[in-house]
Amino acid sequence: MSSTIRIEHVSKSFEAGKPVLRDLNLEIRPSEIVSLLGPSGCGKSTLLRLLSGLERDHEGHLLIDGQEVLAPTRAVGLMFQEPRLLPWLTVRNNILFGLNARDRRQADGLAQELMEQVQLSGCADLLPRQLSGGMAQRVALARALATEPGVLLLDEPFSAVDALTRMRLQELLLSVWQRRRFTMLLVTHDIDEALYLSDRVAVLSGRPATVREIVHVDLPRPRDRRAAEMLRLRAYLLEALRIAGAPQLTGYGTPFGV
Ligand SMILES: Nc1ncnc2c1ncn2[C@@H]1O[C@H](COP(=O)(O)OP(=O)(O)O)[C@@H](O)[C@H]1O
Ligand SMILES: [Mg+2]
Repeated sequence: MSSTIRIEHVSKSFEAGKPVLRDLNLEIRPSEIVSLLGPSGCGKSTLLRLLSGLERDHEGHLLIDGQEVLAPTRAVGLMFQEPRLLPWLTVRNNILFGLNARDRRQADGLAQELMEQVQLSGCADLLPRQLSGGMAQRVALARALATEPGVLLLDEPFSAVDALTRMRLQELLLSVWQRRRFTMLLVTHDIDEALYLSDRVAVLSGRPATVREIVHVDLPRPRDRRAAEMLRLRAYLLEALRIAGAPQLTGYGTPFGV
């Protein structure tokens, strides 16, 4: 239920001579939470797509528990900025959509457990159009966890919801992680989000992306978002990103002036 991710010397180009990733290295331990921060367009989503097996043709190695990633697998759960739910399926059936026939024998219990963990008990029969943005993302989280993956990859998962919902979703994500202990790699533009959630924050350079710096967030959870050490790390990361060339950043209502 908890996997190691190894990204070794990974380079990727879509067009010859225009690399998106260059010699990128990162190792993530079981149950660790790592955030990727970096300029827009530097290749963060490309890296997650490679790790999920949705994108191919790269140099270097992408390993999950020592196995090369060759195609999408049930060992990796995915969550995106949009919930990507099927509008004609209920909450329960969206959550169970990706399961095969064998899994479906235990489906009832699993759906119930996941709905409880994402605080959607009682919503099993609702349709996506009846959900708020935050509820829809909680369904997407439950769906991503339905195969009980050892890795959860999240690509700006809370960027489309308001600031308060976003904080609640972060707290909920941590509460689910505390029970299931999957390894998480999270792309975000939000320094506060990275600091609240992560054990380590990897700052990427502009395109072609490589890991420029890794910042350890050695604070116990639940974290106080306004603790002095959080503010210090925030200022530090902001500067690291400024140097990396980030053109636009967001925080909770704080104008960064970049
Ligand atoms: N399928 C693709 N074909 C060609 N270029 C792509 C493709 N996917 C991404 N790119 C390019 O790769 C670069 C990195 O994209 P992406 O990984 O989405 O960046 P990020 O998520 O960091 O904003 C961008 O310049 C983008 O245009
Ligand atoms: Mg992206």
